[in-house]
Formats: sequence, structure tokens, C-alpha cells
Amino acid sequence: MSRPIKNVAVTGASGRLGSAVLERLVSSGKFNIKVLRRNGSKSTFALGTQVVDVDFESVDSLKAALAGQDAVVAPLGALALGIQKPLIDAAIAAGVQRFLPSEFGADLSNSNNRKLPVFAGKVEIADYLVEKAKDTPLTYTVVSNGAFLDWGLRNRFIIDISEYKPTIFDGGDAIFSTTTLASVGDAVVGILLHPEETKNRRVYIEDLKISQNQLLALARRVAPGKPWEPQQASLDAATKRSDERLTQGLFDGETFLPYIYRSMLDPASDGNFQKTDNALLGLKGKTEEDVVELLKQVLN
Ligand SMILES: NC(=O)c1ccc[n+]([C@@H]2O[C@H](COP(=O)([O-])OP(=O)(O)OC[C@H]3O[C@@H](n4cnc5c(N)ncnc54)[C@H](OP(=O)(O)O)[C@@H]3O)[C@@H](O)[C@H]2O)c1
Repeated sequence: MSRPIKNVAVTGASGRLGSAVLERLVSSGKFNIKVLRRNGSKSTFALGTQVVDVDFESVDSLKAALAGQDAVVAPLGALALGIQKPLIDAAIAAGVQRFLPSEFGADLSNSNNRKLPVFAGKVEIADYLVEKAKDTPLTYTVVSNGAFLDWGLRNRFIIDISEYKPTIFDGGDAIFSTTTLASVGDAVVGILLHPEETKNRRVYIEDLKISQNQLLALARRVAPGKPWEPQQASLDAATKRSDERLTQGLFDGETFLPYIYRSMLDPASDGNFQKTDNALLGLKGKTEEDVVELLKQVLN
């Protein structure tokens, strides 16, 4: 039986997702929060936040920082995924009960997604956690939230409306699950409040399901006078080009992004979650009008 979770350590707490997760954890008022910041980091936090500087390469340094913690939430950036191994080892050594790794995207239990090069680091960490949970008291919860909705609209990701020429893949009708950063934070709160129901499994959350064409129609509604010129593209062609770029040793966003689109939009990648844990975790979802409000912020 899981014990209640009260003391929560957060790493990556200054990041795009991490800052939203930290904010929701703090505002829930349910936990004692300790931020683990890397030595030399210039990141700052709200007055009153407990911040501990640690050497993320040292299990001993991490273990000392994790003493007395019930859970570790690790929304670390994509380039820092590897530091989760010493973090997991330290969590085990410190007797931490629950670890939430830096996934927060596609469903990596899907065999097609597991093979996409962009997710190799996340798959490795998830597999490592699953193995450790077999023979230590450490438990885990992995979060699949699909594409970030608010961040994705602001950062030319789920649809690039910045110059009114969004790339639309494979006709644009594929429905995908999408979640705002704050809702991911609320889901993390829900997980920590339901340790038994979320033990050693992947949880699925979404604010809503939508397609690129639906987003485009809403964007046209918000900004009807703009010179909209959607560009049709093929997922197969985009990921083939990424495969070629990988063979040329090009490991950048241009190479990796099409693989993420595949995980979102290819029906074989289950980017449209069939079932969610929204009810368990207290997520109420968003409406089309919420999306319109987000689009207004981006387009106006
Ligand atoms: N589903 C989606 O649409 C979507 C979109 C984007 C990201 N994501 C996922 O969300 C997760 C978080 O990504 P993000 O973009 O929010 O991250 P991010 O903004 O890049 O945040 C990076 C955080 O990690 C910390 N960090 C970086 N390197 C570190 C190191 N070596 N040691 C310790 N801490 C380190 C940074 O600390 P400092 O303050 O010290 O720099 C910062 O707090 C990732 O798993 C990412 O793949 C999902």
C-alpha cells in the first residue's frame, strides 16, 4: 500500500513545463516543496521557495538532497534526460517512494513511438525505472499528455500560425490529444494525491482532442483578414528527410521535429488517447472557446 506523499522534490523547476508544474504544486497547498537546482544555475524562484543546489552527476549529493522526500518530479529539459539515472539511483538510496520522469508527451508504450529516434533517451529512462521498480521500493508514474496546447500554439509547434502559412500534415484531419502546461501541473498534483491508483503505470491526460484543420479553422475565425495559405505536407516525406539528416549526423530540431509530428498525427502512434485518467486526476478539460482565447493571444 502506498503511503501518502507530502514532501516533494522538483528538478527542472525553472523550465517551460517545470515552472508550471512548480506553480501548480505550490498553489495546491498540499505539499512541502523542495527545488533541486544544479550547481551554478542562474535560475531564481519565488521568495519562500526552498531551493537546494546539487551536483546532478553525484549520487551522494543527490541522495543528501533527497533525504526525507516522498516523491521526485523531474520535468527536465530534453538535453538533461541522462541525468535522471543518477537521480533515480539517489532516490532509491534515499528511500523516495515515487518518481515522475521527464516524459510529458507522446504515448511511449506505443511500439512505433518507442522506435522514433527523438524518444530514445526517454525510452531508456522509462525502461530503467521499470527495472528498478521491480526490485526496489521505488515506484513510478509516467505522464502522457500529448502535445502541449498553449506552449505549442505560441511556439509554432502544433500548428505554425506565425506567418499564416501553417504546415498541415497528411490532410490535417488526424485528431490528437493536447494539454496545457498548467493542466499537466494539475495532473502531477493529482498523481501525488493518488499514489496507489497511479503506482507503476503510465497515466494519460488531455485538455481536449483537436486536429490541425480544426485549429486552422479556429485561427481563421480569430484572424479572418490575414492571408492564410496552409502548406500541405506528407509525414512520410518529412520523417524520411529526418532519417537522411540523422545519417548525415545532423542532430537538431529540424531533424527531430518531424518524428514528434509522427507521434502526434500518425494514427498508428495513438496520439489520440482512447482513454484518459482525467477524472481520477481532477482535470476538467478545455473547450473550443478556450482554444480561441489562446489563439487570440498568439494572433493579436
Ligand atoms: N508534449 C510536448 O508538446 C512537449 C513540448 C516541449 C517539451 N516537452 C517535454 O517536457 C519536458 C520538459 O521540457 P521543457 O522544454 O519544459 O524543458 P526546459 O524548458 O528546457 O527546462 C530545462 C530545465 O531543466 C534544467 N536542467 C537542464 N540541464 C540540466 C542539468 N544538466 N542538470 C540539472 N538540471 C538541468 C534547467 O535548469 P536551469 O534553470 O539550471 O537551466 C531547467 O529547469 C521534457 O521531457 C520535454 O521533452 C513536451
